[in-house]
Amino acid sequence: MSAAAEPCFRINGLRRLDGLLRVNGAKNAALPCLAASLLSDQPSRLRRVPNIEDVRRLLEILSFLGVESDFHDNEVVVRPSGVCGGSPPDALAAALRASFLVMGPLLVRTGLASCGTPGGDVIGARPLDVHLAGFRALGAEVESVGGRTIARAPHGLRGATFVLDYPSVLGTENLLLAATLARGRTRLVNAAMEPEIICLAEMLNRMGASISGAGGHTITIDGVERLTGVEHELIPDRIETGSLLIAAAVTRGQVCLQGVRPDHLESLLGKLSEIGVDVSQKPGQLDIAVEADARLTATNLQSLPFPGFATDLQAPMTALLTQVEGTSVVHERVFENRMQHLDELRKFGANIIAGGAAPVVIGPTPLTGAVVRGTDIRATAALIVAALAADGESRIYGVDHLSRGYADLAGQLQHLGADIELARSADTLTN
Ligand code: EPU
Repeated sequence: MSAAAEPCFRINGLRRLDGLLRVNGAKNAALPCLAASLLSDQPSRLRRVPNIEDVRRLLEILSFLGVESDFHDNEVVVRPSGVCGGSPPDALAAALRASFLVMGPLLVRTGLASCGTPGGDVIGARPLDVHLAGFRALGAEVESVGGRTIARAPHGLRGATFVLDYPSVLGTENLLLAATLARGRTRLVNAAMEPEIICLAEMLNRMGASISGAGGHTITIDGVERLTGVEHELIPDRIETGSLLIAAAVTRGQVCLQGVRPDHLESLLGKLSEIGVDVSQKPGQLDIAVEADARLTATNLQSLPFPGFATDLQAPMTALLTQVEGTSVVHERVFENRMQHLDELRKFGANIIAGGAAPVVIGPTPLTGAVVRGTDIRATAALIVAALAADGESRIYGVDHLSRGYADLAGQLQHLGADIELARSADTLTN
């Protein structure tokens, strides 16, 4: 796309965020729950589905596989009566990581599944070994031919105990989906414990699956003959919530987010409190309020699987740490290449010393408006956070990345008082 036609966010910084907002349903719950529709031949209705590019792409993939759908007002109705196999078109598989989630359901329902190399954010090697070893443990034959994975189980899958080498989120979801219709009992040991896994397991159980232990280290699945349709509401998006809380803090604002799950955000809320943000939540209520008018001070953090600090919030949090007093060390421990926002943050004037996966952020440095490019969903969100704290106008490119994962971050920030608009700029990147 030429620079002249490319959309960007134009932001005038130093506006204090203030107000109330209800957050969207979770991207990373929507994707596995939509993939679950392949396991039944009855219609299902999903509520609180975020209107994001990754959801629209997955629905397109599902339509190639025989699932009709309607998507209006954050509700998706899926009608999977036409599912009889097939493979996502390679270009669509390459458009998002979660395209690979069709593998587990197709394998167990039709005995044959194949998928080209899944895409998504380029934040590390992102191998698929956990998924493939799991399918093999359940009795499938799996081969990779020219970047395409083909899995066969002509006589069906059978339950097994499988220890994941790493608690991969999508790996756990793919195996959970496959095991629901496998013969006998499956135990997934060292499973991912993310809230999105619980959301998926709850949906599957309502469809008639027999799953216990989701949200813990070991998930037990007793295979059933068939699954029915279901109505299911997705959990709130903890990464959107966290991004907005961080944005509020960087502007020294006062924001209340409604319809959220504080229990999904304990590691972020702990860090925000530690640096001096006033975080309030009433027991049993689905609101989080933050106020950040006091002095904020440095902290160290490391990203980890849930319930550790979410890797998806590492980049926005790094942007916030440029505006607190002192030296912070940020250690990215989930993905080996998720620091591409650092060079762009420096263009605003941030003082960040490279340290491989653990850069050192020295704050506070006054930021000034810059023209920058986000290279993945959360890096782009981080640059927006920096621009909110920068003096003058910024232009953030990488809108296409952001729209894969946030339904309307710019609109939400505008609602809270930010000066942000989607613009088409003729500027080329100069700095
Ligand atoms: N890994 C392996 N082998 C595998 C799978 C993963 O070594 O077979 C490694 C990865 O290379 C990485 C680590 O395990 O170093 C974690 O990867 P994981 O599989 O858990 O990530 P994912 O399932 O591909 C999901 C989210 C990501 C989020 C990560 C970690 C979805 C659609 N994506 O990815 O979300 O960062 O879990 O929490 O659920 C985002 O929303 O911006 C995003 C990238």
